[in-house]
Amino acid sequence: MICQIEITTFCNAKCFYCPNEFLDHQHMPFDLFTELLDTFPSDAGVLLQGTGEPLLHPQFWEMAESVKKRKHQVSVITNGTIPISGEQLSLLDSIGFSIDTLCSNTAKKYGRPDPLHIVQNLLEYHRQVPYKIKIYTVDYGQNLLPLRSFSLDNNIVMTVQNLQPKTAYQVRYHTEPLPYLRYRCRFIENDIIRFYFVDGKLSPCSFMIDRNSALSKEEISMQLSIGKVPGCCLQCGELTGLSRLSNR
Ligand SMILES: C[S@@+](CC[C@H](N)C(=O)[O-])C[C@H]1O[C@@H](n2cnc3c(N)ncnc32)[C@H](O)[C@@H]1O
Ligand code: SF4
Ligand code: SF4
Repeated sequence: MICQIEITTFCNAKCFYCPNEFLDHQHMPFDLFTELLDTFPSDAGVLLQGTGEPLLHPQFWEMAESVKKRKHQVSVITNGTIPISGEQLSLLDSIGFSIDTLCSNTAKKYGRPDPLHIVQNLLEYHRQVPYKIKIYTVDYGQNLLPLRSFSLDNNIVMTVQNLQPKTAYQVRYHTEPLPYLRYRCRFIENDIIRFYFVDGKLSPCSFMIDRNSALSKEEISMQLSIGKVPGCCLQCGELTGLSRLSNR
């Protein structure tokens, strides 16, 4: 099982597709973090990331160490703007870098951090810990070929995701609404993931964004069972059938 913790909602970027800037910004207190860790099953993989830049948490590396002390695998997804030392790299089991393009101008246009130094750093990290580095890309219609060639040439796994269709993400962009095909959700019916918001509240999945409007698993299940889509699940791909991964 994946146990994901939103350790911070602070961010140093304003990506056009991310609602981060409209959230209230806070760091999770270290004590709350360890309290949550102590409830995780022994086989849990721990992902330190929510809607924010995890490496901005002043105790990020102590947090990662606490996870390792409890013998869990620890992963992070970062925007790559904050340098990571060799010693820090060795602590993490997997490090995802969010890079959508190699072109600085395109990144700037979409509010993403400049990939120039991020890509240079990533190559150096990959040299040091080759099996740990991954690229996560959002497909918003940009030319993906240069990034694909880069990942292939350097033997770095690249995952391309569709721009989120969920209404909760769509503060500064819009995708056409899709009809609902089913009123069932894998995350509600199975114990796939535990996601904790920055204040420690448990979320039914990792796509909720707003902790104030996220209903419990039971409430969502009840609404879906009568053919109703709760506000916190509007236009979710689980219900419209749109895959999270891009086919480009
Ligand atoms: C919310 S960010 C948090 C971690 C870190 N700040 C980063 O950008 O990697 C985690 C991932 O969600 C992706 N993401 C954010 N908004 C998205 C959206 N509307 N559609 C698809 N992916 C999105 C980002 O590109 C990133 O790979
Ligand atoms: S995608 Fe990541 S880097 Fe971009 S605004 Fe959201 S949290 Fe920040
Ligand atoms: S947002 Fe989507 S994945 Fe999350 S509980 Fe609702 S339907 Fe399921």
